Amino acid sequence: MENEWIVSDYSLDENKLLKNESIFNVSNGYIGIRGNFEEKYPEKYKTIRGTYINAFYEDTPITYGEKAYAFPDSMQKIVNVIDSQDIDIIIDGQKLSIFQGTLKDFSRKLDMKKGCYIREIWWVSPSGKELKIKISRLASLDHLELFVIHYDIEKVNFDEEIIIESSISGDVENFIDDNDPRVGTGHAKILSVNSITLEDEIMQIVSQTKNAKNIVAVTTKHVCSSTYECIFEKTDKKAKSIFTIKPGKKVINFIKYNIYTDSLRHADVVSIGEEKAKSISKIPFEMLVKTQEEHLSEFWNLADIDIEGDEKLRQGLKYNLYQLFQAVGRDDRSNITAKGLSGEGYEGHYFWDTEIYILPFFILCYPKLAKGLLRYRYNILGLARQRALEMGHKKGAAYPWRTIIGKECSSYFPAGTAQYHINGDIAYSYIQYYLATGDLDFIKEFGLEVIFETARIWIEIGHFDKGLFKIDAVTGPDEYTAIVNNNYYTNVMAKFNLKWASKLYDEFRNKDSEFIRELSKRINIEEKEVRLFEKAYKNMYLPYDEELKINPQDDSFLHKAIWDFENTPSENYPLLLNYHPLTIYRYQVLKQADTVLAHFLVEDEVEFNIIKNSYDYYEKITTHDSSLSCAAYSIMASKVGYTDLAYKYFIETARLDLDDTHGNTKDGIHTANMGGTWMSIVYGFAGLRIKEDYISLSPKLPEVWEQLKFGFLYKGNHIKVSMKKDKTEIINEGDSRINLRVNSILYEVSRGKKIQVQN
Ligand code: BGC
Repeated sequence: MENEWIVSDYSLDENKLLKNESIFNVSNGYIGIRGNFEEKYPEKYKTIRGTYINAFYEDTPITYGEKAYAFPDSMQKIVNVIDSQDIDIIIDGQKLSIFQGTLKDFSRKLDMKKGCYIREIWWVSPSGKELKIKISRLASLDHLELFVIHYDIEKVNFDEEIIIESSISGDVENFIDDNDPRVGTGHAKILSVNSITLEDEIMQIVSQTKNAKNIVAVTTKHVCSSTYECIFEKTDKKAKSIFTIKPGKKVINFIKYNIYTDSLRHADVVSIGEEKAKSISKIPFEMLVKTQEEHLSEFWNLADIDIEGDEKLRQGLKYNLYQLFQAVGRDDRSNITAKGLSGEGYEGHYFWDTEIYILPFFILCYPKLAKGLLRYRYNILGLARQRALEMGHKKGAAYPWRTIIGKECSSYFPAGTAQYHINGDIAYSYIQYYLATGDLDFIKEFGLEVIFETARIWIEIGHFDKGLFKIDAVTGPDEYTAIVNNNYYTNVMAKFNLKWASKLYDEFRNKDSEFIRELSKRINIEEKEVRLFEKAYKNMYLPYDEELKINPQDDSFLHKAIWDFENTPSENYPLLLNYHPLTIYRYQVLKQADTVLAHFLVEDEVEFNIIKNSYDYYEKITTHDSSLSCAAYSIMASKVGYTDLAYKYFIETARLDLDDTHGNTKDGIHTANMGGTWMSIVYGFAGLRIKEDYISLSPKLPEVWEQLKFGFLYKGNHIKVSMKKDKTEIINEGDSRINLRVNSILYEVSRGKKIQVQN
């Protein structure tokens, strides 16, 4: 490991090839390309050769054995689009393959400051010709349609001609695995080629999905520094440019500019692709790298965290933040998928992962991208309303558990549609954005409707029972327990949702009655309904067990037997791959944090000792089979004072993908966990919370660290925190005064002011 900014690999270990395809993906929130080899591996090695466009989908029918009312008929699925990675170098009629001939040196490196992935090869062909090749790739953050590959080829000991064959291919398939519910199933062949053209040294393939009729094009132009002759070839699925590079130059630069356009965002995929290919291919590669680095330096300036301590952890942390930045959608129709744009796990779907695990980072470190994620939910509100009707509700919005365009894609409702908490999670994230930024205009324009419509669902699915408001037949975040009454997490998030809906209604009615009148007309919200919201949240039933002094996960949870952990062999985890769901549902066993997560999100609801007792209780019976679990346990271990344990859980999150600890990084990186790493530090070790009138910190540095430095934006002010073993310093580098509470003391921190607190 050179340094924390560079993730590298020097091996050609066949067991790591698939994982490294995900690790070395290059993405920009629009397109993502797995770290495949341009020249491919020998056939005997498995590969998932993939290129994805965020939110570009196919509609695939869902077949059920026993289909019941309002089950979704079809689902959207991310598409493995046209492949533009293929480049072959041919010497003496022999294609370069680093698995043949002699490999003198090999490395692959992801440079997280430059935003560039580089593979270096020093290779001797079977006929003794020696080549040094440096291949750089980037998915441009400034030109989102661009995926560029740059070859720097040095002919070490010869000067004969070489041939470079560069192709684009519409012969692509999605990856499927019928035995793993976390991966795609069904049909692999989704795209068919509409046209292939070769004109003015530009190659273009246009393909289309069968059902949704979404169109994608790749338009490719090359630039070569040496004298060459070029011929083109095409088949019904591929276009190829064959460059014969004349002798005379020791070093050859060859650049492949690939422009991806799709019918969801581009009025004409063909002409826009051509125009962009012509204009963007005029930008030298070095310039693209320079602007990429500038773009990233703005990001790192706000987001970077510095830990004095273990370098591997520092690298893991940077990698996770970098991947989030690469993966997040840059337009209002796309969000951030569970696997980013690095693989096909969870079929390119968006989940509650965004709101609860990823948005906190963007809200506090890069709010302009946070806004896009929130607007996405606003944009799909219409479909969420439609889904509420389908589900038999009279009003409100039922956000889909998993989706791309806004329609429910979950075919297993106990661990899908039943997770109504997603409504509360979405409302919660709008409020967090508001409290952190103070941006009430945004809430007015894109938030209020969502907050009211999500609140309505609780009235639809809940009821008053002996004066208490109860919510039956839902599933909480823990998918190892399904369809229960009064899941603590759901009820507490519903309470929060209803409370803020009433509060914002009252505030706006007083301040901007004109707007409330207009909104009432639009969504028919009236005083009477808001008073019902109020009554429901004030009487919300939150399960509590007198004997254990904990919040039970739901009404029946504590009556079940505890899972036999002692006699469960380690190879039987994750349980979901080894037991029927009903077996799992019968026991007290958690896939992931549930009540413990609720105690983090809405911590003022219960006393500290209940939070601590609950932590102790649930920690023993949680498998962490979901990658969303460890971060929540780390944050809450910090909260209850188990700093060593918090550190242990934090480590689990920091290198989850780099070290492939869940064994499925091949299907893509785990974006929620990546957000969780940041949260374990900022919400965990620094104890940050966003309250209504202030932001608070409660620092607890892990024993092994000397120092922790991080920054965040609070109401537009850049706040920098430096935590040492004995003291914490906080500087307000912004322009306005903020209210900050550290431990139990409230400070007013004006511009440029630094405060110092003993830990
Ligand atoms: C988790 C869900 C999560 C999904 C996507 C599942 O394994 O249980 O909570 O939303 O993965 O990351």
